[in-house]
Amino acid sequence: MGNAYRGLGVAYYPEHWDRALWEDDVARMLEHGLDTLRIAEFAWGLLEPHDGTFEIGYFDDFLAICERLGMNVIFCTPTATPPVWMQHDHPGILNRDREGNAFDGPRRNYSYNSPEYRAFSARIVERIAAHYGTHPAIVGWQIDNELNCEVAEFFADGDHDAFRAYLKGKFGTLDALNEALGTTFWSRRYSDWEQVRLAGKGLYGAINPHLELEERRFFSRSAVAFTRMQTEILRRHLADGVWITTNGLFPNLDYNELMTEGGLDFITFDSYPNFAHDVNHRPAEGDLLDRKWSWNLAWTRSISPTFGIMEQQAGAHGWTNRMEAPMPKPGQLRLWSLQSVAHGADMVSYFRWRTSPMGLEIYWHGLNDYANTPNRRLAELKAFAGEWDALAAVKDAVYEAKVAVLKDYDNEYDASLDDWHGRVARASDDAWFRATQASHTPCDFVYLGAATPEQLAGYDLLVYPHAAIMTPEVSDLLRGYVEGGGTLVFGARTGYKDESGRCPMRPMPGLVGAWAGVTVDDYTLVGRDTADMTVDWDGTQLPAPVFNEVLRPADDAVEVLARFTQDYYAGAPALTRRRVGAGVVYYVGSCFSEELADHLLEVCGVRAPLADVVDAPPTVELAVRGGEGGRYLFLLNYPAREARVELKRPAVDLFTGETVSGEVALPPYGVLVARL
Ligand code: GAL
Repeated sequence: MGNAYRGLGVAYYPEHWDRALWEDDVARMLEHGLDTLRIAEFAWGLLEPHDGTFEIGYFDDFLAICERLGMNVIFCTPTATPPVWMQHDHPGILNRDREGNAFDGPRRNYSYNSPEYRAFSARIVERIAAHYGTHPAIVGWQIDNELNCEVAEFFADGDHDAFRAYLKGKFGTLDALNEALGTTFWSRRYSDWEQVRLAGKGLYGAINPHLELEERRFFSRSAVAFTRMQTEILRRHLADGVWITTNGLFPNLDYNELMTEGGLDFITFDSYPNFAHDVNHRPAEGDLLDRKWSWNLAWTRSISPTFGIMEQQAGAHGWTNRMEAPMPKPGQLRLWSLQSVAHGADMVSYFRWRTSPMGLEIYWHGLNDYANTPNRRLAELKAFAGEWDALAAVKDAVYEAKVAVLKDYDNEYDASLDDWHGRVARASDDAWFRATQASHTPCDFVYLGAATPEQLAGYDLLVYPHAAIMTPEVSDLLRGYVEGGGTLVFGARTGYKDESGRCPMRPMPGLVGAWAGVTVDDYTLVGRDTADMTVDWDGTQLPAPVFNEVLRPADDAVEVLARFTQDYYAGAPALTRRRVGAGVVYYVGSCFSEELADHLLEVCGVRAPLADVVDAPPTVELAVRGGEGGRYLFLLNYPAREARVELKRPAVDLFTGETVSGEVALPPYGVLVARL
């Protein structure tokens, strides 16, 4: 790594501009405090203009400028946009939709499992890795661009073949496959492996849900395998210390597997909080708008505790055919950048240096406008870049949370294909996000599958809202956590499905019922006539929306803490608590509301852990990153109006070096970062 690396960057497309602009652009980036740029993710057509004819050195002159001026570079593998000749001469590389129509058009139109596309991809990656792998200006590599963005389902011939092979490997025999996929229902039994395919278009979009669950697992594996193919090639060529990542978070992709099996060093996220202000977005009362991106950042952090932002919003956005959003207002570029840092980002790279003069993204604004003359956004960037070095103190410090929401990809896939599951999952996700945000209770996500007992033991409270699919391994892991002294909250619809998404013949909540000490005697979606359903918890009425379960405690050792208030199950147990070993397990026979989640945080003694340090209104987000260099408090004010916070102990403003205490005003979109 040749040049000093601070980690403030920008996406750049040398191929979009006259060469005469390159040096001026790089020099002006450096003047504005940017020391890293990303190139080449869409440049395949230039690097290989004809099949097997390479102009791999296309970026040599540009990289020489970077090296000379002291600019670091993130180089990308260009597999997100196959060249036109390839699409034309080898249509087999193209992805198809469920109806069998091939995608044409630009970018992300290929199949990870097309043998031809794999071979073309391996060849170009090998060539660029051999040519650029040890270039002194290059600090890291990005694989492809936004795997599974735009399309996360694949139905090309190669996908059908690979899916069949995946199922053969997993189930071995047709009998086992038929059993797992419940194919006796509606006469879907397979009698020959040749009949096994990804599902086609069904009436009402109907697909066997057990088959669809396997499809999602398979789509994830396909992306992981495609990534691994590339990282293996790169690793053979890269200089020591050069890292590999990929960007974005998208559906049907197990990011923990992508990290380990895909061979990445860390994940980067593409943060566009302005989607919340898209002119077609109609915010509901109390919408958290751009602050919702903190939930995505928590997901990112679950994959790697510190991470990068590969694309941070730098302007208004839109394609010519979709998405229309206003310019970020003065202060929002800094606010959103610090939102990323508060959650664990150690690198922030903006999208993009200059707005494209051509193509679908002429409205996806970069830092510079078409005219390339000074503007407000550049001035805001320059001011923020002046503060960036102070944030070096926070580098490697991790977001501090004692509360975590448990997740797993199987349940996420299942919730995305099963409306009943999806409805409770979405409602409770929202409720826990709001409750933890508004109460200033920092919260992590922990993905089971990758989580160790030691990791779980680091949390005082774990919430697993609706683990419809529950395996014996997960049940045992969680029981061990509770026995060791942890507090765990389950919500309704726990454990009624097996790993294939079928509902086995046994009382609910399945495997965890025995140790949580409850049986579900009756259950119902909350109908319109009882949409204001509540539970009574010691005289406090708390909304119990979407889905209710009537609980039966196993014995007298199980406390009934709350009861339903309406309908035919008024007075029935709704919420139980049981001691298990040194810990406690709660079972909530409902979907969560913000109020119910907030009450649980309070009762479990984990709400607002920094209440003795700072008092802030709910509209201000609070985060703390801590590490060897100290603990840093972040207070982020998202609304367009001033907020007042009270620091109950003196702290040092990281940017001014001044001690702050007592009442502090945060301007609209203002952020305070202070050393505790
Ligand atoms: C990102 C993508 C970029 C650019 C941007 C604006 O998702 O990675 O290449 O397209 O969106 O659409």
